[in-house]
Amino acid sequence: MDQQAITAAYRRYAPVYDFLFGPVFEPGRRRLVEALNCRPGDEILEVGVGTGLSLPYYPSHAHVTGIDLSPHMLARANIQVRRHGLRNVALMAMDVQRLSFPDASFDKVSALYVASVVPDPAEMMQELERVCRPGGEVVIVNHFTRNNGVVARIERGLAPLARSLGFRPLFPLDAFIGLTRLELTEAMPVNAFGYWTLLRFRNPS
Ligand SMILES: C[S@@+](CC[C@H](N)C(=O)[O-])C[C@H]1O[C@@H](n2cnc3c(N)ncnc32)[C@H](O)[C@@H]1O
Repeated sequence: MDQQAITAAYRRYAPVYDFLFGPVFEPGRRRLVEALNCRPGDEILEVGVGTGLSLPYYPSHAHVTGIDLSPHMLARANIQVRRHGLRNVALMAMDVQRLSFPDASFDKVSALYVASVVPDPAEMMQELERVCRPGGEVVIVNHFTRNNGVVARIERGLAPLARSLGFRPLFPLDAFIGLTRLELTEAMPVNAFGYWTLLRFRNPS
């Protein structure tokens, strides 16, 4: 995966994204926002916010900053913000691997279905750790590779198409957790058949 492939893939997805990936990913979006347990005044960062489908779920007492690499996805997110009258949301074009925010800027950080998309998940995790305040939380929802069965065979078959699909079908959980110094405090299956996983981390430093 590289930036050019990602922006090209999500330029193609943007007009149909909500139709293709709206309802199927919706339970995970709701569970992630519930897991954040937003308190009044919390500063939240959502990376890879896409078309902004999660944004209406955040309570209005929390301030949410959404960033994304794709201008086409962000244009849709802006429509979502206007449609729902979300005054607590700010959207910015930015690469999650090079966030322009100072250290410890956010109480909580979220990433929905983006970890297996970014070119370098290790850099993404370093940045999430850097901008999350000590004692804050990072919550992630993503699919992770199955080791056997029909789904595992499908994932292996799709792996060579990662650039045009816009995500990596092969994305092992253990390797991903090993990328970060954040403490894993919870892992739970979400969405249909529990194929996706919600991971909750605490920033110890
Ligand atoms: C599968 S979509 C998920 C969108 C949204 N989070 C959702 O719940 O549907 C992945 C998103 O990550 C964004 N993305 C990929 N690489 C990125 C990067 N390096 N920095 C910021 N956003 C990125 C893509 O542009 C796309 O909008």
